[in-house]
Amino acid sequence: MDGVAIMERLLSAEGRADPYPLYELARELGPVVPSGGGMAMVVGYREVHQALRNPALEVIDAESRDRWEDGYAEHPSKVLLTRSILESNAPHHQRMRSLIASVFTARRVAALEEPVTAAVQRLLDEMADHGADGSPVDFMDAFAYRLPVGVICELLGVPEADRARFRPLAADLSAALELLADETELAAADEAAEELARYFSHLAARRRADPQHDLISALVEVADADPSRLSGRELLANLVLLLAAGFETTTNLLGNGLALLFAHPDALAGVRAGTVTPAGLTDEVLRHDSPVQLTGRIPSVPGLRIGESEIPKETGVFLLIGAANRDPARYPHPERFDPTRQDSQPLSFGGGPHFCLGAQLARLESAVAMPALLARFPDLAPAGGATRRDRLVLRGFHTLPITLR
Ligand code: HEM
Repeated sequence: MDGVAIMERLLSAEGRADPYPLYELARELGPVVPSGGGMAMVVGYREVHQALRNPALEVIDAESRDRWEDGYAEHPSKVLLTRSILESNAPHHQRMRSLIASVFTARRVAALEEPVTAAVQRLLDEMADHGADGSPVDFMDAFAYRLPVGVICELLGVPEADRARFRPLAADLSAALELLADETELAAADEAAEELARYFSHLAARRRADPQHDLISALVEVADADPSRLSGRELLANLVLLLAAGFETTTNLLGNGLALLFAHPDALAGVRAGTVTPAGLTDEVLRHDSPVQLTGRIPSVPGLRIGESEIPKETGVFLLIGAANRDPARYPHPERFDPTRQDSQPLSFGGGPHFCLGAQLARLESAVAMPALLARFPDLAPAGGATRRDRLVLRGFHTLPITLR
């Protein structure tokens, strides 16, 4: 099979369900593999690592998008995210990122350990109530979604009463980040983008009138004081991005983690016994079944190289994080789930200028939640009937039924 056929299969329902065998087929063709449509796939750890850090490889932004994606301007979901840091290059990227990073500090995140622990205990209590009679509980709905949404909404300053509506909205919006979303999915993503933009625009107005100690108030203050640092449109785009990036991915980290533990009873016993550290578990889940499987870049100069391969100026690259994390040149027995690996450094949070702003927060949530969950329910078991979300880029479960006793 050549790279074009592999990419076609990756984009099929079968490839989305289990992309890993296809990554291995691509790896046999080399670390950088032409995949048709003016694109190439990068599958090697060293090459993806290097490409993420190369400033001459840019994200598709508002200026370049027309050349790469027909008809994007008709989709509010795509237009909205194009104004966020995730889809901006220098100098706009640095301008916005430094502002957001200045309010989203390591100190602010570290201070969340106590509230995260309290939120975990609260959710475990609620789950215990629901599953007390031995009936199945959906882990995704009852825990994996609620924890990150609660944490990011607390940080942003989204009132509790408004949070329930975000799961379907963010799930719909995430179609805009997929490589091939169909028109029905895009229509739902567009509606979700418009509703979220309206929501944050109202909330920003409320915070403008009555500032609180939250991230929205801090960003509104900056945007109002000097719109050349952060325009109104950019403010909304980045608030929506923070909300969506803040829980879709972490929800999937928790779900993928629990499913992997069920499939590997030794690892599960290791977490219970304390021989597997929470950080080691988190790293290995990120590596083995990354919640973000790929990202894209385009070259801004001719003659650019990734590893030994020259990338033609008009060729974009898919950086296959999920494949790089299983590169046998970097990891011995990469297919094994081994949370005691040392020096793992998976590429699941990206790298270089766009390195995930929420990495520390996501790690904290996973490290607090997983051991607490296992300690609370000694008889925790899968109840069968788990379903995956039909996505390639954001990989995770839709439902993961469990019994608690
Ligand atoms: C397991 C959880 C998470 C994973 C796997 C993840 C993954 C990623 C990846 C791969 C990127 C880089 C994309 C690229 O280079 O094109 C990224 C960027 C980003 N992430 Fe995360 N993320 C997670 C959690 C979070 C959380 C909790 C937040 C916020 C609270 C967050 C906010 C962001 C933001 C704002 C960016 C854009 C940074 C930029 O473009 O400069 N992420 N994330």
